[in-house]
Amino acid sequence: MKLAVFSAKPYDKQYLTSARETKFNNNKSSSTPTTDIELVYHEFALTLETAPTAQGASAVCVFVNDDLGGPVLESLHASGVRAVLLRCAGFNNVDLEAARRLGLFVARVPSYSPEAVAEFAVAQIQTLNRNTHRAYNRVREGNFSLQGLLGRTLRGKTVGVVGTGKIGVAFARIMRGFGCRLLAHDVIESPEFVGECGGKYVPLEELLGASDFVSLHCPLTEKTRYMMNDHTLEQMKPGAMLVNTSRGGLIDTRAVIAALKRKRLGGLALDVYEGEGALFYNDHSGHIIDDDELMRLTTFPNVLICGHQAFFTEEALREIAEGTMENLDDFLHGRQCKNALVQGQVGKPLVQEGSVPIRI
Ligand code: NAI
Repeated sequence: MKLAVFSAKPYDKQYLTSARETKFNNNKSSSTPTTDIELVYHEFALTLETAPTAQGASAVCVFVNDDLGGPVLESLHASGVRAVLLRCAGFNNVDLEAARRLGLFVARVPSYSPEAVAEFAVAQIQTLNRNTHRAYNRVREGNFSLQGLLGRTLRGKTVGVVGTGKIGVAFARIMRGFGCRLLAHDVIESPEFVGECGGKYVPLEELLGASDFVSLHCPLTEKTRYMMNDHTLEQMKPGAMLVNTSRGGLIDTRAVIAALKRKRLGGLALDVYEGEGALFYNDHSGHIIDDDELMRLTTFPNVLICGHQAFFTEEALREIAEGTMENLDDFLHGRQCKNALVQGQVGKPLVQEGSVPIRI
């Protein structure tokens, strides 16, 4: 069977090809039965225009900025695609209702090295708080002045964690190691956050008013979209730092620019951005970028922006690729999949156990 992989970078090819060989024995290295999975890599993203390139594939494999809205899913379904494999945890880009209606199987990789993302959020805090990004450039130019590089010691500071799922708790554990006081807001309370991390749950308004650093780790939903807006930014402690490694849509960019301009916000570290789909994961250095809000953000000395790379470790890439192949295996055999967002048709295998080879 053919799996069309969209937004495929060289590292995706390397890890997915290797995971396929291990899972389906495609290099025929042992006597384990082989399932022929043809991986067709596309560097371009999945959009309504590119969806027809999936013709002949039974499944597509996609990433965070691929378009999986209703019209794209309908187009994929019409070309014979029956499964959507997300190589990420977030699924805000998928119209699950349309997938259900079309009987598509949709699965994600819900957990891959949550520490990779948590550690990156801490790296962003440390960089921005101690100005190491500016120091790096200065020293290369022979400028050893410390003026403007003053930071704050983390020990004793209050850190607010919004969303204490896998990543939020991993982040809280690290910040506890720095000697920070931990507050959290979530719709579901985590026993680890209270027990292991010694944290306390409070309403969002109280968290924002008391925290020196606020880190966002909740998913993007209709309820959380623009949770950081004019009103909530005004509730933040003056001079506090906001960190977002979750999804860009959690922050109203226009409002955050205003909060930075009036010096209410002390710093902003972003790994994600609401308009990232048009830019991230590609080299635009030779082009005119027409996103004025993003460009304005890059002019603040107390703003640090990265291109959605918090997940990007060897361990996470391996786990994403292996998880994707596990999900594909469940789909092919019509098994209940623990990572399914939409199960599709259970008990209708597209292949027989141990069949050699299969074509769908
Ligand atoms: P998770 O599902 O384990 O945890 C999410 C938490 O957010 C849950 O505890 C949930 O109850 C909470 N939550 C839901 N609605 C909320 C609300 N209205 N207010 C406060 N909390 C709320 O997810 P995980 O694995 O911790 O990932 C968190 C997010 O990180 C993902 O949704 C994804 O968007 C993002 N992510 C970013 C990556 C990157 O490379 N920058 C990589 C992986 C995930």
